[in-house]
Amino acid sequence: MNIRFAAQPDSTAGVIVYPVAKKALESVANLLPLEAAFLADAAKAARFDAAASALFEGFASVEGKLHRILLVGLGEGSANDMERAGAAITARLQTSGVENVSIDFTAAAEADAKAIAHFALGAYLRDWRIDTYRTKLAENAKPTLKEILIAATDVEGVEKIWPDMKAVAEGVMFTRELVSEPANIIYPESFVERCEKLKELGVEITVLDEAEMQKLGMGALLGVAQGSVRPPRLLAMRWDGTNGAQETPVCFVGKGVTFDTGGISLKPGPGMEDMKWDMGGAGAVAGTMLALAGRKAKAHVIGVCGLVENMPDGNAQRPGDIVTSMNGQTIEVLNTDAEGRLVLCDAMTWTQQTYKPKVMLDFATLTGAIIISLGHEYAGMMTNSDDLAGKIAKAGTECGDPVWRMPLGDAYNKLIDSPIADIKNVGPREAGSITAAQFLQRFVEEGVEWAHIDIAGMVWAAKPGATWEKGATGYGVRLMNQFIADNFEA
Ligand code: BES
Ligand code: MN
Ligand code: ZN
Repeated sequence: MNIRFAAQPDSTAGVIVYPVAKKALESVANLLPLEAAFLADAAKAARFDAAASALFEGFASVEGKLHRILLVGLGEGSANDMERAGAAITARLQTSGVENVSIDFTAAAEADAKAIAHFALGAYLRDWRIDTYRTKLAENAKPTLKEILIAATDVEGVEKIWPDMKAVAEGVMFTRELVSEPANIIYPESFVERCEKLKELGVEITVLDEAEMQKLGMGALLGVAQGSVRPPRLLAMRWDGTNGAQETPVCFVGKGVTFDTGGISLKPGPGMEDMKWDMGGAGAVAGTMLALAGRKAKAHVIGVCGLVENMPDGNAQRPGDIVTSMNGQTIEVLNTDAEGRLVLCDAMTWTQQTYKPKVMLDFATLTGAIIISLGHEYAGMMTNSDDLAGKIAKAGTECGDPVWRMPLGDAYNKLIDSPIADIKNVGPREAGSITAAQFLQRFVEEGVEWAHIDIAGMVWAAKPGATWEKGATGYGVRLMNQFIADNFEA
């Protein structure tokens, strides 16, 4: 779907949309053409209240032609409200038979360029869907919407903001694609292949194969991979938009378990299909790199993905096995289903040794426990830096990918001491998300500001949300992008 901006609305479009801010609710008639002004009363009768994403649909004959008219509520007009309003238009019209929509912001004077761009972003993001495997989609269920024309007073202003926002949206949608694809299609090697397209944007790509990881001593990551016929990969994507001015990059590390059966500590059958999205952290990191390169962010950023499949075959690791991580720590693998931390610890060590970052964030669908703690409203954040906590939380609130901080501490850390090795890979049932983070913290080097974001509750949605249909949300891309924009771009 294409989004275009112009100074004038197109009265020949299949649907004509009038956005209505809450404070303009009493004067809806003024927004409408004279012959359609009666729709203001109709909307009132239908209890249209201009809340963000509220819709009212009516028809009116304007200059002898039947117009299909939609009123969409803008709520208070915040960025989030605007996105929800734009998304509501796409959701309503995507498969409606209509191809062209004209949205008339010229009368809604209070919507500035930035607000309108957010509206466009919501409309654009909500259009994403994956129809790759639908060979029998009914004619009336196929998308028809081709173009949204947004008429704005300050066209120039919107056109200046939009390309960067669109780049971020492309990143979010790339993540949704990676997350949605089943595990027979996306596995470590094919994940890497899908990311090759980032090269065209100037992203430098490094890939480590099994032999190279062996040489580096990544026993923790390789232990997880050894039960699968799919070989693991470590993928690093580098974007430097500073021409070398920022020597030290910010590093993002993503958990990329392309399928998590649990291994020998096998998960129960019902719902196991969800574990195709256990690469959501890696997916978000890849989408972020696409977004940053797409909008030529003036920052130096590395995205690292630890890619493995966790399977229970004859060569799989066993509960009780002891593996040695890249930085020499021994780990007693008591539960092969606590594999994410095993993948991340080596990916994090490699990242720190290779790039010497001062700031490192990891993103992972690490624990079911975080869903018990926070549901699907916030990702959990554990960090060794109050300053970083503040920056990440602020970025999350700004962009609509919210995070909530959880504690770390010695008492939790003790819970993963092993009687036979340096660490065990699981603690007791209590505080499962925190002990998982404590495990990771043991691999954070001196002086590195680090945050772990547990996104297990955010990657996949059972219900449609603000700017997504049910399914992959693309969570994390906007958070990382905002974090970079706020703190590392001049
Ligand atoms: N990938 C899962 C976590 C997960 C569970 C994500 C449900 C999304 C939905 C992770 O690898 C896992 O299995 N964690 C275990 C840890 C436990 C064995 C300590 C869990 O959460 O049960
Ligand atoms: Mn697991
Ligand atoms: Zn997992």
